[in-house]
Amino acid sequence: MAKLIYIESSPRKDRSHSIEVANAFVTAYKAKNPNDHVDVLDLWAEKLPSFDGDMINAKYAAMHGAKQSAGETAAWSQVQKMFDRFNAADKYLFSVPMWNFGVPYILKQYIDIITQPGMAWSFDPATGYSGLVKGKAAVIYSSAGAYHEGSGAEAFDNQRPYFQAWLGFVGITDVTPVSCAPMLAAPEDVAKAVSNAVTAAQELAAIF
Ligand SMILES: Cc1cc2nc3c(=O)[nH]c(=O)nc-3n(C[C@H](O)[C@H](O)[C@H](O)COP(=O)(O)O)c2cc1C
Repeated sequence: MAKLIYIESSPRKDRSHSIEVANAFVTAYKAKNPNDHVDVLDLWAEKLPSFDGDMINAKYAAMHGAKQSAGETAAWSQVQKMFDRFNAADKYLFSVPMWNFGVPYILKQYIDIITQPGMAWSFDPATGYSGLVKGKAAVIYSSAGAYHEGSGAEAFDNQRPYFQAWLGFVGITDVTPVSCAPMLAAPEDVAKAVSNAVTAAQELAAIF
């Protein structure tokens, strides 16, 4: 029995295109893999802890083998709990809207919390950084515009390049993106883009 974690980062719920596509993926995945466990992590419902001074100092204490204060220890146990849930998965599904050319701040906050030394990554002076997370990922990207090669807008895309660089950094290199764009277009073009993305997501889920 495999474990899929679905990490949702749009607060728009019923109006969200990335969630609509991700839900189609999850439905198709469950139909194909009825015995697998699907853990849905809605970042907006989760009440993520602040990535504050204690959490950052706890991170540096972990990196330098220093003693943590009581506040840092409490922050580090929240980090460990969130990372353990993430790391328990064999497969990852993310829905990632573009916000101001990057990812929603709640997703960045989650990334800051779980991207920790000794959990998500390690460093060896001889070999450099290694990602410690194992698994593969499907990512539903949505945006108002189109940022593909040749669009002339590639330089503004800090959504997909950033997110995939982060996945690679933590060790997830088997990544299949599904694009749901452009979402700022004539209604019939939006409907077509969503329908194409739903089909691509369902096909991917059937072999994921
Ligand atoms: C705060 C905010 C910022 C946005 N910034 C961009 C942007 O920089 N570029 C873009 O193409 N679309 C941008 N959009 C549009 C969204 O990416 C688009 O509506 C997408 O469908 C949102 O995903 P969702 O439908 O899953 O919520 C922005 C939307 C919001 C709410």
